[in-house]
Amino acid sequence: MKGRKLLLENIQVEGIRSFDVYKKHGGYKAVDKALKKMSPEDVVEEVKKSGLRGRGGAGFPTGLKWSFLAKPEGVPRYLVCNADESEPGTFKDRYLMEYIPHLLIEGMILSSYALGANTSFIYIRGEFMWILHILEKAIEEAKAKGYLGKNIQGSGYDLDLIVLPGGGAYICGEETALIESLEGKRGNPRIKPPFPAVKGLWDRPTVVNNVESIAAVVPIVNEGGDEYAKIGIGRSTGTKLISACGNLARPGVYEIELGVSVEEFIYGDDYCQGIANGKKIKACVPGGSSVPILPHYLITKTANGEDRLMTYESLAEGGFESGSMLGSGGFIVFDEDQCIVRNTWNFARFYSHESCGQCSPCREGTGWMEKVLYRLEHGRGNLRDIDLLAQINKKIEGNTICPLGDAAAWPVAAAIRHFRDEFEWHVNEPELSQKRNYGLLKEPVTA
Ligand SMILES: Cc1cc2nc3c(=O)[nH]c(=O)nc-3n(C[C@H](O)[C@H](O)[C@H](O)COP(=O)(O)O)c2cc1C
Ligand code: SF4
Repeated sequence: MKGRKLLLENIQVEGIRSFDVYKKHGGYKAVDKALKKMSPEDVVEEVKKSGLRGRGGAGFPTGLKWSFLAKPEGVPRYLVCNADESEPGTFKDRYLMEYIPHLLIEGMILSSYALGANTSFIYIRGEFMWILHILEKAIEEAKAKGYLGKNIQGSGYDLDLIVLPGGGAYICGEETALIESLEGKRGNPRIKPPFPAVKGLWDRPTVVNNVESIAAVVPIVNEGGDEYAKIGIGRSTGTKLISACGNLARPGVYEIELGVSVEEFIYGDDYCQGIANGKKIKACVPGGSSVPILPHYLITKTANGEDRLMTYESLAEGGFESGSMLGSGGFIVFDEDQCIVRNTWNFARFYSHESCGQCSPCREGTGWMEKVLYRLEHGRGNLRDIDLLAQINKKIEGNTICPLGDAAAWPVAAAIRHFRDEFEWHVNEPELSQKRNYGLLKEPVTA
């Protein structure tokens, strides 16, 4: 495989799930180094230097986020790992946790030490119970070897690490809903501010980070922030896990160096090896179901004709007119036979189901969009429905407590922007649209 692997390098090693094999392959070296030679501030500094950006979706700089953590005297603070991973198309964190759990545990020790937390949590998606058991076993092993609990490796630093499952709601991946759920309440997002860094779990200063962000602290401490920052391009540093799915010849979880071209990622021998069954590509959702869809002519090139790269900046090039987002790295590819209207309805159905219902634009709007899209997809819509969707979208966007509203609105807006002709075809040819998909064609043809 091409490129440097910082997280998944040893994932194929037999028995890597166990403490002994993980340690034999360089595991817990970063903890030994940090606890013996570095202060918590040094660890924060290395993470800042690395340029690491949160891998949970928003891409916020991790070191900067850590530096916002309030540190009032005598008040405990917490690190919470977000392992809720429920975004359609995103399945990278579960892969890391399932096959190399000690990498996350090592990252949790380092990050907790950096933040001055003595109790930390991994909040894991309720459907991942078998992974919860894998993590619990790994925690027991680390504890038995003196890497968790009191006085870790004689350093005087104590850490308790607890894994707790959610109830299976997508909204509990939103950091404040996650905190509510961890406190034993219904997972409704909180109004921000106050931000968790000031008032989080049990009103104490809290950092919530994604699994991959926390795991990335291990190579950052091992190699140094400057070395990490040498990988990638511009503000997109390091490696990124991409879960690639849909109509690809070789779907799966890939660790890429940020900056690989989208063309190489889709068609390269080291990555997805092109579209399955020799078909043409029709569209791509590059960062999980919440990000705008790109039509085939904007996937490997930007609207300016430049090569599109797998970076935060390049995937967003062109804004919402002609770009998308790296998001959580859930890379979904659609071939020429896929129906965009059906897929848009499917995503809308998901968001409508997962809305927590606190704010009316999201609660009513997601349900309304789902109904209109159902009509269109099932040949019962009219042309006014397409504009109606755009109007509902505008009412949701920016008017809700948490970003789930935007996440529901953007995919619909982008699908209409780029595939309006396909939506109209569903209205104008209702019977035909029930029999076959519109494909790449710009003009409807007779069946
Ligand atoms: C509806 C919704 C679902 C989310 N789900 C996840 C998730 O499953 N995992 C995750 O890490 N972040 C998720 N996030 C983002 C978190 O709120 C938060 O930004 C993230 O965990 C911060 O970690 P990072 O800075 O390391 O990326 C979600 C956000 C929203 C609005
Ligand atoms: S935007 Fe939706 S999911 Fe978020 S708080 Fe409002 S109703 Fe709940």
